[in-house]
Amino acid sequence: MSSPNNSKNQISEALVGGTAPDLGMPTQLCLFEGNLDPCTIVIFGASGDLTSRKLMPALYNLYLSSAWPNPCCVVGAARTSLSREEFQSKMHAGIASQGNYDAKKWQEFAQGLNYYAIEYDSQASCQGLHAFLRNLDGRHGTRGNRLFYLAVPPSLYQTISHNLGQAGLGQESLDGQGWSRIVVEKPFGHDLHSAMELDTTLHQSFQEHQIFRIDHYMAKETVQNILICRFANSIFEPLWNRNFIDHVGIIAAEKIGVEHRAGFYEQAGVLRDMFQNHMMQLLALIAMEPPSRFEAERVRDEKVKGFRSLKPISAPGSVENLVLGQYEAGQIDGVTVPAYRAEPGVRPDSLTPTFAVMRVFIDNWRWRGVPFYLASGKRLPQKLTQLIIHFKEVPHSLFANIDLGAITPNRLILGIQPEEKITLTFQTKNPGATVCLRGVTMDFNYYQNYHGPMMDAYEKSLIDVMQGDHMLFWRQDGVELCWSFFSPLIEQCESCAISEKLIHPYKAGSWGPAAAQPLLNLILA
Ligand code: NDP
Ligand code: BG6
Repeated sequence: MSSPNNSKNQISEALVGGTAPDLGMPTQLCLFEGNLDPCTIVIFGASGDLTSRKLMPALYNLYLSSAWPNPCCVVGAARTSLSREEFQSKMHAGIASQGNYDAKKWQEFAQGLNYYAIEYDSQASCQGLHAFLRNLDGRHGTRGNRLFYLAVPPSLYQTISHNLGQAGLGQESLDGQGWSRIVVEKPFGHDLHSAMELDTTLHQSFQEHQIFRIDHYMAKETVQNILICRFANSIFEPLWNRNFIDHVGIIAAEKIGVEHRAGFYEQAGVLRDMFQNHMMQLLALIAMEPPSRFEAERVRDEKVKGFRSLKPISAPGSVENLVLGQYEAGQIDGVTVPAYRAEPGVRPDSLTPTFAVMRVFIDNWRWRGVPFYLASGKRLPQKLTQLIIHFKEVPHSLFANIDLGAITPNRLILGIQPEEKITLTFQTKNPGATVCLRGVTMDFNYYQNYHGPMMDAYEKSLIDVMQGDHMLFWRQDGVELCWSFFSPLIEQCESCAISEKLIHPYKAGSWGPAAAQPLLNLILA
């Protein structure tokens, strides 16, 4: 299928539209106008949740934009027996509910959707896929460029990668045409050992430049903006260290429960599902040193240095370091929701944590002694992802003699979702004859004065894979360092002797267990 709008041919920043009245500067629309190589996108696990809810809508949106290879074929591959038409209509259901649905464009897009019923563990089936792809190349001119997306349970990553290699689908031609890339979804392994095993298997069929370890948090606009905020402004960086920052809070709260993913979640829990990956990336972006250039390897080098400085948490029993929780029945938005243990597929005596808050230290020159408090949980009262920089109190209050009470320290809040905004809180004088302080905020809304298209994290990630850009993907050394930090901790938490005592129940719709409140207050206060 060819893009409806593929005439533009380079990445450009178009100066368009109105001006930002506050600065009198023109608004920039950063549109992708590139030439993407013709290719075939093969999605393994195409009958699943991720494909219909995230990947296919993202591909459809890219098709509507100019960021679409021409030509491009999409192949859904899964065990479920589906005809091409049945697959198309299954994908239609997810896309038709989108605000930008256009029946004519959908028809065009759907023409490029194919389906291949595959046995993941059969080499013959993978050989058959190879023949299927060659046939598409011949018919559509996709030139042997292939993107393999593993949207399957992690237990299948190694089998599929191995069989792709055996079928010759990991090979690339030397002239740069005929590339092959593999996208692996988080979690990358279950612990350090399995992450290393997975990497070894991937490398038997693919080279490092072909492997993309996706973490959709990195591709969120507001997450990408953290580095811009820190390093494209001169006012923040001089303050960004232990001399001025008291502590940092990072929270990723969710309203949803485990939904239909108990099979996966029971094995994972919140520490593997959210902390080892998304939360660590947010931490890295706040804590890392400036890279010398905005290039994938240099940015990833600096993140890895940050991970290397993580101070191990030795006492998971201490509520100062870590509090784990599991939701009980409760109310969310006035609707009664079941306890985690009553969710379909969850063991009635499950000790899987659905909430965690922890204190982390980064032992290096910049951050020595500054606590980072990280919290994430399901069935909390609201969806909220924020990074909150709590600055130190003023060193001396010259207002002490006027009895103004304590002066609230400044806070910089980087709102990731749902409110995409940056807020700075500070003190002013209240108008009037006497001196009294008033805490006020300066807000920047991320889409203020911006009228262009918005890009979802999966759309951005897919474009980057098609361009071969690794900036927003995990590198294996980072994965292993984070597992080195989490594996011993998780092992201790899961040991039978203490796990029961460690998991504190909390009501769905509350802000987690009572034991977590002191740490949560430090994040949100
Ligand atoms: P699903 O559980 O929906 O599985 C995807 C497909 O894999 C299924 O439709 C099924 O297809 C096949 N499959 C499932 N279980 C097995 C099994 N035991 N043996 C063989 N095949 C199986 O997964 P999701 O789509 O939710 O997620 C895919 C990947 O993406 C996972 O690794 C997940 O951790 C990750 N992820 C998912 C997110 C989400 O929001 N869903 C978010 C971030 C990451 P068939 O039987 O037809 O072959
Ligand atoms: C996924 C986790 O990686 O991220 C889910 O597996 C979680 O459990 C999801 O719900 C949260 O993503 P977002 O983009 O909705 O914050």
